[in-house]
Amino acid sequence: MDVKALIKKMSLEQKLAQLSQFNAVCLHLDAGDEVTGPAKELSLTRDQVASTGSVLNFRDATAMIELQKEHLENDPNKIPQLFMMDVVHGYKTIYPIPLAMGCSFDTALMEKCCNMAAKEMVTGGVRVTFGPMVDLVRDPRWGRCMETTGEDTYLNCEMSKAQVRGFQNGTGASACVKHYAAYGQAEAGRDYNTTDISERTLRDYYLPAYKAAVDEGVDMLMTSFNILNGIPSSGNKWLVKDVLRDEWGFDGVIISDYAALEEMMMHGYCADKKECAKRAIDATIDVEMMSSCYVQHIPALIESGEVKMEQIDAAVERFLKLKEKLGLFEDAFAGADAEKEESECLTEEYRAIAKKAAEKSAVLLKNEGVLPFKKSVKKVAVIGPYANLVMLGEWACHGRQETGVSLLQGVKNLLPNAKVEWAQGCSHAVNETDCSMVAEAEELAKQSDIVILTLGEHFNQSGEGRSRAELRLSQAQKTLLSKVVQANPNTAVVLYNGRPLVLTEVLDQMPALVEAWQPGTEGGNALASLLFGEVNFSGKLTMTFPRSEGQIPIYYNNYRTGRPPFQAYSSWYQDMSTTPLFEFGYGLSYTQFSVSEPSLDCEQMSRGKSVKVQAEVENTGAREGEIVVQLYICDEHASLTRPMKELKGYQKISLKAGEKQTVAFEINEQMLEFWSENNKFEAESGYFKAWIAMSSAVEKYKPVRFKLV
Ligand code: BGC
Repeated sequence: MDVKALIKKMSLEQKLAQLSQFNAVCLHLDAGDEVTGPAKELSLTRDQVASTGSVLNFRDATAMIELQKEHLENDPNKIPQLFMMDVVHGYKTIYPIPLAMGCSFDTALMEKCCNMAAKEMVTGGVRVTFGPMVDLVRDPRWGRCMETTGEDTYLNCEMSKAQVRGFQNGTGASACVKHYAAYGQAEAGRDYNTTDISERTLRDYYLPAYKAAVDEGVDMLMTSFNILNGIPSSGNKWLVKDVLRDEWGFDGVIISDYAALEEMMMHGYCADKKECAKRAIDATIDVEMMSSCYVQHIPALIESGEVKMEQIDAAVERFLKLKEKLGLFEDAFAGADAEKEESECLTEEYRAIAKKAAEKSAVLLKNEGVLPFKKSVKKVAVIGPYANLVMLGEWACHGRQETGVSLLQGVKNLLPNAKVEWAQGCSHAVNETDCSMVAEAEELAKQSDIVILTLGEHFNQSGEGRSRAELRLSQAQKTLLSKVVQANPNTAVVLYNGRPLVLTEVLDQMPALVEAWQPGTEGGNALASLLFGEVNFSGKLTMTFPRSEGQIPIYYNNYRTGRPPFQAYSSWYQDMSTTPLFEFGYGLSYTQFSVSEPSLDCEQMSRGKSVKVQAEVENTGAREGEIVVQLYICDEHASLTRPMKELKGYQKISLKAGEKQTVAFEINEQMLEFWSENNKFEAESGYFKAWIAMSSAVEKYKPVRFKLV
């Protein structure tokens, strides 16, 4: 396909049709010229809608085939449409939410889940997924924490690359990394809110995970809704053109987020849609999602010479090249097949991986000898408002309650001979105070050998637009907890949530606490395996759990102060510790591990060389288990102060009871770099400390010290 020759033949209107994306609901046009619904709100004509180059969110393979056929019949250039959807953590088989997958610290598993999700989605005609979402998060009030792998730059980069490989390799699909940039830093945790971040902090923490996706060959990128330092991302020439295109060399397709172009007026950045179009095309945004600034205003901008035809041609070329890469010109329907969408989705293989992923991403936060439960129990109470639900999470695509396994069902599956009963206990309303269902649950708890109590938040309470100012359990859930535990202390709490919650006031009452997140289609089976000890816990938190909302933002890799906490006139709170309730990297197991004092092969590191730090890790408990061994580094002094500790490596290893293994990390110069005053990544000579630890609470471990010369 000679894309350039094709572009030469195209009219401006035809080019702009390629650069506009509409939701499939806009395409179901009734006969006649009448345009309704969102298309009408955007003041689009019938032709503008029908000729669009790409489609967002449609029903299934049958709908896709129908839409594509109709489009090709009418399109004078016979350019197929490209179909896109948010396949963030699964298409029909739903894997745990990305925040949970991060806790697995298992990049190979992440890659595998994304690969399977992409294979499923292609049967439904989807060729681009709007993932990975790699926004760094430090504020659990923000509802979209669930979509990202957490608060750490290094882990997010590894997970970003794994997702790109998984979605794209061997699948016939493209990934679209989002939301560029720093959308996760929304002020006060309120979605779509302002972000204001110094270039240094952006470069060191917020930008690397997008760049990792670019370096891994991601085909598309989405700009974010937020303003960054005063300028909305979709009109931010420095962010998009200078950094992403020119500095990082990204030549793939850039799409705006949903209506983000015209929202530049709401931000008070553009006077009208024409200015939105000009700002965005100058920033090299190629495709405009769900607004109509390009189609309606680029012609006048070309006419007046404010926008050059070469800018439009370059955008169209990038987009058509992606269509070419995906083979659409040879087969516009490739992969889409209604029969396969039935037979090749939700297979046993996919379900098995989804179960494994849920097992590996759950985190055991507390266990006072309650867990694992014995499989010989006769009467099991499964209590709480989430016990009978399949906790899929937002962006669950075509995941369905009917095809998934709730915890109640999972326990029944595992214990076919036990009497397993459910009591709801309370509703899942976020501020529920009605405790009228508690007594029934209490009674059931009393009559049972063990209790599994599900608490937390409903899957509709986290996700886009679902910010919370308070992160505590509802009054009804608190009452339920205290009554149930009093009735039967043999209780384990299973927490479902899309973000860290504030558990300080209830933690003492919980004999055991399992962080289940939103574990997806096979969540119920996976959690039953964990609770009854068929499988051991191995997940570690990737987001800090605060003691109180007042500590937010709280994250492990903060800078130091001149007045460390725990003394008068220091950086502390009068009424609360400055430490978190659970730190980044924390998580228990059914066995115990120890890490020896680390050793170094050389105390000096020359430029371009590396040093090796190693320690012996031992399983000191009674059963086999996996442990995430974590490497943290601190630059003691630098021309710009550095954090107290930063994760720079991890290895997840499995050890039998009593087994020991030496775990070694090579530390190279690149791992010591930061965005310096010279506006580049550099490592400065001087002393560094390194810890090999089992969580970010490195104070509990002895460091090694080396010098970069
Ligand atoms: C979200 C994006 C998503 C898009 C398309 C927006 O509201 O912010 O993450 O990809 O919708 O569904």
